[in-house]
Amino acid sequence: MNGTRGAWLVALLLWGVGGVEPVAAQSGSPAGPVPRERLAARRAALAERIGTGVAVLWSAEPRDIEGDYPQDSDYREDNDFFYLTGLEAPGAWLVLVARDGRGEEILYLPARNPAAERWTGPQLGPGPEAASLSGIRDVRAADRAGSDVAALLSSGDSPARRGGVFIKANRRPPGCNGGESDGVCGLFAGLAGTSDLRPHLAALRLVKDEDELRRLRRAIGITTEAQRAAMAAAGPGMWEYELEALIEYTFRRRGAERVGFPSIVGSGPNSTVLHYDKSRRRMEAGDLVVVDIGAEYGYYSADVTRTYPVSGRFTPRQRALYELVLGAQEAAIRAVRPGVTIRELTQIARAYMRENSGDLCGGASCERYFVHGLSHWLGMDVHDVGDIGTPLAPGMVLTIEPGIYIPEESIGIRIEDDVLVTAEGAEVLSADAPRTPDEVERAMAAAAAAAGTR
Ligand code: GLY
Ligand code: MN
Ligand code: MN
Repeated sequence: MNGTRGAWLVALLLWGVGGVEPVAAQSGSPAGPVPRERLAARRAALAERIGTGVAVLWSAEPRDIEGDYPQDSDYREDNDFFYLTGLEAPGAWLVLVARDGRGEEILYLPARNPAAERWTGPQLGPGPEAASLSGIRDVRAADRAGSDVAALLSSGDSPARRGGVFIKANRRPPGCNGGESDGVCGLFAGLAGTSDLRPHLAALRLVKDEDELRRLRRAIGITTEAQRAAMAAAGPGMWEYELEALIEYTFRRRGAERVGFPSIVGSGPNSTVLHYDKSRRRMEAGDLVVVDIGAEYGYYSADVTRTYPVSGRFTPRQRALYELVLGAQEAAIRAVRPGVTIRELTQIARAYMRENSGDLCGGASCERYFVHGLSHWLGMDVHDVGDIGTPLAPGMVLTIEPGIYIPEESIGIRIEDDVLVTAEGAEVLSADAPRTPDEVERAMAAAAAAAGTR
């Protein structure tokens, strides 16, 4: 009997004193934790870039659904905070004190709150587990952060006096987003010698390390699997939202924690709307459907687009336009190598389109229907941080995504792949998704034969 009731009592008492095992950041995530040595290397690289000075970062604010809904669902950490700590920890501060290129770090975490944990689950508090996960030895309670930082900034020998203070210009200390300006919230207001930390972090995040590439490869692998599943399922009479549901089901069942951006499933006229994300139309025979999707896995997002004929076969005109987009994409991918810029890749793709349009677009070049950029950086954000003019270097990841959109014909075609820059050239990370017209038709036909549809 009493064994069970007794055990309950002990568990409740332990809970009451905060004794339940905290769920460590990322420990239960399918992507697993970021290795400590990677985190330490990223922080060391940031200290080296800053040289001398004090950098202060904060974790993300919990999302607030309409201000009155008490469930904070799906907390997502600030990318830079996660990049440097590997933690998901609302209310936290990271202070990096750099002297001549070498850094010392202090992590501040809110004390655990057993009453709140009854609602939202165990949280990481200041203590040895946080130190062990992040590799930051000096972990303190967050209620000391404001006074500690104030003292650090004002002390006579502070590196802040020599090198300045670095904060993210778009962020404020935790709990200050209601416009508060006194106490901790006013700590950095009007402080002389303050500069923006974001360009430094962006430069670091532009070149992916091995753990980042592991996450990206997985995000992209899940996304190409979803593309194949969607190709197999698409057909006349199906609603765009049904295809979207299948895609996002594939993401989630493979361990992606969310979408990297709202899924784009645009058929017929919607294929010409670049970021159409409503998925409200019923697909018809003869339509093309643009499927632009990206799973987010362990904080890294894929971004892969395929365009398929809803009835399983491209019309001759759709195929000819598709081949033109594909040729432009392949010309750009062939040119990817260290030292080249995105601007140059764009010129290559556009020149291909100009020179190969024939009479597909009424005598003029189809280039005028290519109405967006060719590439962006990819990483923790789908349009990731980093100066777009930076010459390519090994470890950078970018998309190559030409398109043609002709609203008057309800024809939109985009082909988008995720490309890793290597020492020799490029690796197409999304190559698993059928891409040529024949590959797309074969993938659709095989599925139709298996299911006896289409
Ligand atoms: N998925 C959005 C984009 O390709 O930019
Ligand atoms: Mn993209
Ligand atoms: Mn995309």
